[in-house]
Amino acid sequence: MIPEYKEKNFLTRGFDFLNDPVNFPIKQEDSLGDFFLLDSPLRKIFITHNPEVIKHTLVTHQRDFIKSPAYAQLKLALGNGLVTSEGEFWRRQRRLAQPAFYKKSLMGIIDKMVDSTTAFCESIENKRGEEVLFSHLMMDVTSEIVLKSLFSIESEADKLELYRQIVDAQDYIMYRTTRPLMIPFMYINGRHRKFLKDKASFDELAYEFIRQHREAANPPDDFLTMLIHSKDADTGESMSDEEIRDETITLFAAGHETSSNALAWTVYLLSQHPDIYRKVKEEAERVIGDKKPQFTDIQQLTYTKQVIEEGMRLYPPGYAVGREAAVDTEVLGTKIPKKSIMFISISAAHRSKKNWERPNEFDPERFHPDRVKSIPKYAYMPFGAGQRMCIGNHFAMMEMQLILAMLCQRFGFEYMGDGEPGYQALVTLKPANDMPMRLI
Ligand code: HEM
Repeated sequence: MIPEYKEKNFLTRGFDFLNDPVNFPIKQEDSLGDFFLLDSPLRKIFITHNPEVIKHTLVTHQRDFIKSPAYAQLKLALGNGLVTSEGEFWRRQRRLAQPAFYKKSLMGIIDKMVDSTTAFCESIENKRGEEVLFSHLMMDVTSEIVLKSLFSIESEADKLELYRQIVDAQDYIMYRTTRPLMIPFMYINGRHRKFLKDKASFDELAYEFIRQHREAANPPDDFLTMLIHSKDADTGESMSDEEIRDETITLFAAGHETSSNALAWTVYLLSQHPDIYRKVKEEAERVIGDKKPQFTDIQQLTYTKQVIEEGMRLYPPGYAVGREAAVDTEVLGTKIPKKSIMFISISAAHRSKKNWERPNEFDPERFHPDRVKSIPKYAYMPFGAGQRMCIGNHFAMMEMQLILAMLCQRFGFEYMGDGEPGYQALVTLKPANDMPMRLI
């Protein structure tokens, strides 16, 4: 029999989970283990960080599951892009988009990343000595990088406009997802109308970029050009403008907040561990020095990579993945009825005593090449697992290594908040106080 969370009454126990989806699963580990049921009035929710159950859901029986209902809300803004689509359509889109993330393509956009990061570091020089909201700074640089990598936007006005519209639309979607009872009011109080207006403007801008790229004699080296020219090897088909719009907006949404939060948390950890900070700085000085970093330099930032990996273990930006059973299925002898939710807690896998010694301690040596092989399967999965694993993982690692190394080369960090920073569990795991930091 699967253990069941039975605190409180049937109607209200779901709130314990919804109030803190990040820590709720790990808090139950001692009493209920790593696979338990929360029977809520709406559905059965199976909460897990058990490796067998994760493998069943995301790998061996992935066809028995679809993405959980929260993703349906995202469709309003993102359309039918990689994050939200399912089945054959998703498979085709993934095949078409995948080449844009091959090493060869990433080498083509490294210059954009380096230029944006260099300009960003110069732009914050005048803030040295000041207290800044570090999360905002990280959002600025990661959104700049992803917009440049996607569309090669040069115009500052276009960039700001697109950024604001997409971010506002995302906030609106998040608001709807977390407060479903408020949805009817949003149609009355103007929030939905504003969302439709923002969406119409960013669609218009995205279609304009697509047109310009299609017509250009020498289109720029960016994701949009790659998506336009990508052809299905079997059918020779390529993507329509609408499909490209959905994929580019999806890549922007999926690709900036995640890396930004991972960096904000990692820099916080460095501010608390000066010895580890010094090692990152020393590596940056040795590998990058005064020159403009190249692709091969980033690959040599191996200690920086370990630090980011450990940062994402403690604070995984994608703290969970959710699936809905599309059919009746069974795992570890437990029946999973159709429509049940499988909530796979990445944050619990990352802090489970079964997987890690001293799970709450920041220790980048866990990811040393000699030790990394001993990490149990499905104990560490910041980018998810199975065929729906993050398509942008290499892009993100490259970007985060570059930004962290260049920042540590130039700046020190003093955390200015009171006590440990709390978090907000939105689509991603955000620092609740926007990470006040003094740049030294
Ligand atoms: C630290 C950075 C990042 C983290 C932690 C992260 C995490 C994740 C996770 C956990 C998933 C799986 C979701 C699921 O199975 O339901 C995912 C999917 C995805 N990510 Fe990322 N991501 C990051 C950066 C990026 C970047 C930079 C991009 C694009 C430029 C990106 C694009 C995507 C896309 C398109 C998917 C959906 C893939 C599919 O279903 O085929 N991500 N990401």
